[in-house]
Amino acid sequence: MCPFIQVTVTMKIGEGAFGEVSRAEVFPYGTVAIKWLKRDRFTKHSQSFMREAEVLARLNHPNIIRMFGLVTEPSPSSSPGGSSIIAGIMMEHVRGGSLSQRLRLRAQACQPFTLRERCLIALQAALGMAYLHDQHPAVIHFDLKPDNLLVEREGQDVLVKVADFGRSCLVLVSGRLVLEQQRCDRDVDPLRLLRD
Ligand SMILES: Nc1ncnc2c1ncn2[C@@H]1O[C@H](COP(=O)(O)OP(=O)(O)O)[C@@H](O)[C@H]1O
Ligand SMILES: [Mg+2]
Repeated sequence: MCPFIQVTVTMKIGEGAFGEVSRAEVFPYGTVAIKWLKRDRFTKHSQSFMREAEVLARLNHPNIIRMFGLVTEPSPSSSPGGSSIIAGIMMEHVRGGSLSQRLRLRAQACQPFTLRERCLIALQAALGMAYLHDQHPAVIHFDLKPDNLLVEREGQDVLVKVADFGRSCLVLVSGRLVLEQQRCDRDVDPLRLLRD
């Protein structure tokens, strides 16, 4: 834990299930993204929030969003009416936003992704997934879709990263679920999950 880093939120960049996602500046490191857990969503989403933080903290791969740490307000009780935010997951800021946003913008501009870009996006998503499944315990994402793929660069050197681990779970090779998603059945065969 590093209590002295100052975080300045600059703008909203997305709406998450737990609250909003903000762009922020962290002196002297630069721009980051923060996915907040709002106080009024604590009961429903605190488990997913903690699961996302716990899973992300284990991961380090160029096609997986990188987590830097957890942040909170220094003294929420001192702000009038208390804070509406409990904590946030601080992670790398991906400039292009989600693949679904990029697809919409490219369609509006009549400039669809080239075949090469599409192949590279699919390949990089697959490389990210392969890395997740290769962990011990394996990480099952459960929510891979264009909203949860973030685009750092387009064009010749297109780069995408898998994000949003709020529905993920960890699976031991022995077959026991260790971090269980609500809709996971305890008796489910994790090797079948990996194959599916
Ligand atoms: N690290 C990031 N960099 C840039 N944009 C992000 C980042 N994380 C999330 N976003 C934006 O916020 C949206 C919601 O984030 P996400 O983690 O998918 O939340 P939810 O669990 O509610 O789906 C994403 O679709 C994307 O547009
Ligand atoms: Mg999402």
